[in-house]
Amino acid sequence: MASRGEGAERGGRARSSRRLRRELVERLERDGSLTDAAVRKAFLAVPRERFVPEAAARDGLEAVYRNQVILTTRDERGMWTSSSSQPSIMALMLERLDVREGQRVLEIGAGTGYNGALLAELVGPAGRVVSVELEPATARGARRALAGFAPVKVVGGDGRQGFGRGAPYDRIIVTASGAEVPSALFEQLVEGGLLELPLWVDRAGQTQAIVTFRKQAGRLRSTAVLFGGFMPLREAAGAAVPAGGVQLSANERVGGHGRPLVMLGGEALRKLSATARRRLLSLALSEPRVSQLGLRGPRGALLLYLVLEAPQHFVGSWLAPGLIGADGRGLALLAGRRTITRIEAYGDPGPERLLRDLVERWKRHGRPTERDLRVDVSFGREGRSSIAWGWSS
Ligand SMILES: C[S@@+](CC[C@H](N)C(=O)[O-])C[C@H]1O[C@@H](n2cnc3c(N)ncnc32)[C@H](O)[C@@H]1O
Repeated sequence: MASRGEGAERGGRARSSRRLRRELVERLERDGSLTDAAVRKAFLAVPRERFVPEAAARDGLEAVYRNQVILTTRDERGMWTSSSSQPSIMALMLERLDVREGQRVLEIGAGTGYNGALLAELVGPAGRVVSVELEPATARGARRALAGFAPVKVVGGDGRQGFGRGAPYDRIIVTASGAEVPSALFEQLVEGGLLELPLWVDRAGQTQAIVTFRKQAGRLRSTAVLFGGFMPLREAAGAAVPAGGVQLSANERVGGHGRPLVMLGGEALRKLSATARRRLLSLALSEPRVSQLGLRGPRGALLLYLVLEAPQHFVGSWLAPGLIGADGRGLALLAGRRTITRIEAYGDPGPERLLRDLVERWKRHGRPTERDLRVDVSFGREGRSSIAWGWSS
């Protein structure tokens, strides 16, 4: 039996947890990632620490309620394979999934079980939530956390196959990313139902968009697009995390504080020889030619525009998206603190010209953002998805 002191400590902890939940919700409301009353109620009802017990014991309750991803599991090579996602992304995704009371929901990637518990709150006692998890130990952890708390059925297995025995579903949410839409998920969704998943915009998954689709007349049409990055869907338990393409980086460390000087990723790097990559990295470390763009551009929107309109030239990162020439002897990056205001160019002038042209085209196009992205998915005879990305005109 717990002593009076222990009981008081538990009571204090529960009160702190409720207060921290309220503060997190207020923060998400302030930054615009939470607007829906039902999603708000779910975040207030579910204690996150229950699903990340190790992080709670190690870092304390306050840390659990920061708007941050909590990494939980690594593979043998030290690559992260599971986490509790950032609460603001979870809230944005849950709102777009438009979950109603009494619905049947399938989640792929149970992870800690936290999102599953939020889904269970949203569907209420008349609804049903099934969550599929690839890693047996992670599935066991999620079951333990959910036991006696939220009626979520956690199933072990490859979520790309869905869970046929519980089908059909009104809503399907995938919390790991991929280059394709698994056809089993399409088949297990009701006509008019919503499917939400993080899709790779480039071939290596370095740029992702979280797309919500409605199933209509034999295909999927997007209803909303968000920015965000998720760990990749893996093929088997214990399988290596798929390598995320080529990346070049250089860091500076002064007095124990590190900062990245260069971070370049993207399809275009794959075509360069090892010598050309080293030359490009040293070019990116030299002094740039700086020119103003004459606008304040949204970073994410311009990044998406470059990846989709010039994939063969795209390099860069969220902080500095840009282009290279075919031989890697020229580089041009979009730069700016909060918004994009200038071009930083290195070496041959070709990529700089192309980047200016593309920014002009983006302006003529009406400055589209991720909200103007339209994604259409159809399925071939063998069930392979064919994904068409475009801008609403
Ligand atoms: C970002 S975490 C999910 C977060 C989770 N929804 C939560 O609330 O904690 C991604 C999860 O997907 C799982 N996963 C990866 N590939 C999978 C697959 N093919 N099928 C099912 N789960 C998979 C990982 O093991 C990991 O637990």
